[in-house]
Amino acid sequence: MGNERPDWRLETAPARRRRQPVAFSREAEPLAKDCRERFDREWPDCWMAAAAELDWHEPPEAVLDDSDAPFYRWFPDGRLNAAENCVDRHLEDRKNQLAIRWEGKRGEKRDYTYHDLHRESTALAATLRDLGVSEGDVVTFALPTLPELPIGMLACARIGALHNVVFAGFAPDALVERMTAVDSSALVTCDGYYRDGLAIDQKRKTDAALAALESTVPTVVVDRLGASHEVELEAHQYDYDDLIDQYRGTDVEPVSRAATDPLFHIHTSGTTGEPQRMTHATGGYLAGVTWSARAVFDLAPGTTYWCTADVGWITGHSYVVYGPLARGATVVLAEGNPRYPARHRPWKIIERNGVEVFYTTPGMVRTFMKWGESFPAAHDKSSLRLLGTVGEPIGPDTWKWYYTHVGEERCPIVDTWWQTETGSVVLSTLPGVDEMKPGAAGPPLPGMDVSVVDDEGRELPPGEPGYLTIERPWPSMLAPLESDHYWVLAEYWQEFSDDRADSWRYITGDRAVADEDGYVTIIGRADEVVTIGNRRLGTAELEAAITSVEGVTEAAAVAGSADGDTDLYVFATTAQERDTRDRAAIREAVADAMAERVGEFARPAAVVFTPELPETHSGKTMYRILERIVEDRPLEDSAPLRNPEIVGEIATLWARE
Ligand code: PRX
Repeated sequence: MGNERPDWRLETAPARRRRQPVAFSREAEPLAKDCRERFDREWPDCWMAAAAELDWHEPPEAVLDDSDAPFYRWFPDGRLNAAENCVDRHLEDRKNQLAIRWEGKRGEKRDYTYHDLHRESTALAATLRDLGVSEGDVVTFALPTLPELPIGMLACARIGALHNVVFAGFAPDALVERMTAVDSSALVTCDGYYRDGLAIDQKRKTDAALAALESTVPTVVVDRLGASHEVELEAHQYDYDDLIDQYRGTDVEPVSRAATDPLFHIHTSGTTGEPQRMTHATGGYLAGVTWSARAVFDLAPGTTYWCTADVGWITGHSYVVYGPLARGATVVLAEGNPRYPARHRPWKIIERNGVEVFYTTPGMVRTFMKWGESFPAAHDKSSLRLLGTVGEPIGPDTWKWYYTHVGEERCPIVDTWWQTETGSVVLSTLPGVDEMKPGAAGPPLPGMDVSVVDDEGRELPPGEPGYLTIERPWPSMLAPLESDHYWVLAEYWQEFSDDRADSWRYITGDRAVADEDGYVTIIGRADEVVTIGNRRLGTAELEAAITSVEGVTEAAAVAGSADGDTDLYVFATTAQERDTRDRAAIREAVADAMAERVGEFARPAAVVFTPELPETHSGKTMYRILERIVEDRPLEDSAPLRNPEIVGEIATLWARE
């Protein structure tokens, strides 16, 4: 299989790729063939179509306030509540319909109808309020994929508190950083959870974080492991079930929020590679995810849908919780890694639940592919009608395997490109409207204005690779708090002029190439960020962990798919020449430091010692070169390096690994 990242040099130009027309009959309302032209003609008013997906306390009259560009404010005079849109408004028509089916690691199942979801999230909202959480406060969640996570997010939204979900796999240091950044008023965690066969002690981890913070914020502890794992609760810590039992039946009116009020924080790794606090606004975000859940994923009320993403990442926020629930879909929530315990698990989940729309990552598909087609072939997949991928480029071979062995050459694939900051899908084909080109994410969604530009910000013609940018605002876009405006401006926005007016261009940090038909192929990140298992991690955070090990002076962490799976590799320099035994010890210490300070998932596949890292003249590590070495791709000889001689040496050291 080897390297599958679409490399614009090696791949055939996307324009020449065979188009793949697939008949698709839409279940949600149809989309007009000319929806892009219509949106373009009526921009920005076209986005009222997204606002119309929602129920409002005060429907917006204005679409867009651009008076403080690039800090755009969508639907500025509208008021609504996000939880009401995802839960309450379904009670009349489908209160007994399944909203969430949770499948645990050990074969457990928990079903929540929309009625149950209302009861549970309202009880938690009452609980949080009584613990002192008010409108505008922030609640941090350090929970794995349990039903209490979406319930908790909706409970926050109900009372106008912001949630700050931190991926459960993060180590205490990473949790501390992400709690401090938002000044969290409460924490929701659990006793532990199962990772593959092992019980992980989550409570110990969060206790360590709270101790480091010297914090006694109220902490609610979900019981996942049951009697097998007793935990001790301190004065500020509460058992989730005990609390909820007291508040079931308490009515909590959904708080009316301005569309521009923040809905949640989520941490991302921006172009600098440091974890950054990102924020999304209630109205624009919810309108964007709901509209795209319909347009891209064809989610209609009652559609059974499974997205394998962890709820803690943006994919989980937008397309496990908010978008699908606002559309009234039935969401399958599978705990943990779908690969565990058995290779039949994903297909059994699809078969058992009659999953219609399945959304996963190219990495997951590559794993399925490695196991072989006999696993999906052994199960009834006739319920499937649409497949999706996200997170990294999907190579044409993986695409074809997914299309043939999972979609049975019947289901279209949407290769959705987007980011934490964009909130919802930006590039994708629309099923039933567009043809597909394997390997190319697709054209921009209606209303989105995407271009590929050079270093100077000049738009590049089709076929020429450059930086992927977005030139008009969109509803679910990043909506940073005012205190974040300064760095967000520096990091993401560039001012430019064209014949329309002076304008702002959003810099995605990705390199890409467009074809004659406007289909965009993503090449990869242009900045210091790596994607591991569909998690975007900043190299800065990883490298701080690596250089915390005594004797390591400099380090670079890169992601690469050397053998199909994307893994993390470390290149490190040491203070002095080390003998083999010393190196083995440092290697182990580096792996432990990464697991401990960032998370077990950040344990590297290899640590390579090198005399120097490849550097630009300004001293920045050239990650692209290291990536090429790891992936065994041809090296560019024109890279402007301060120390070009080191490249061959590193390649030799790598080959010996
Ligand atoms: O590099 C792109 C890659 O993932 C980055 C965004 O990461 P994150 O904010 O963690 O969100 C992940 C899920 C939305 C992008 O800058 N990426 C995302 N989707 C694709 C992709 N690369 C190629 N093809 C995609 N479909």
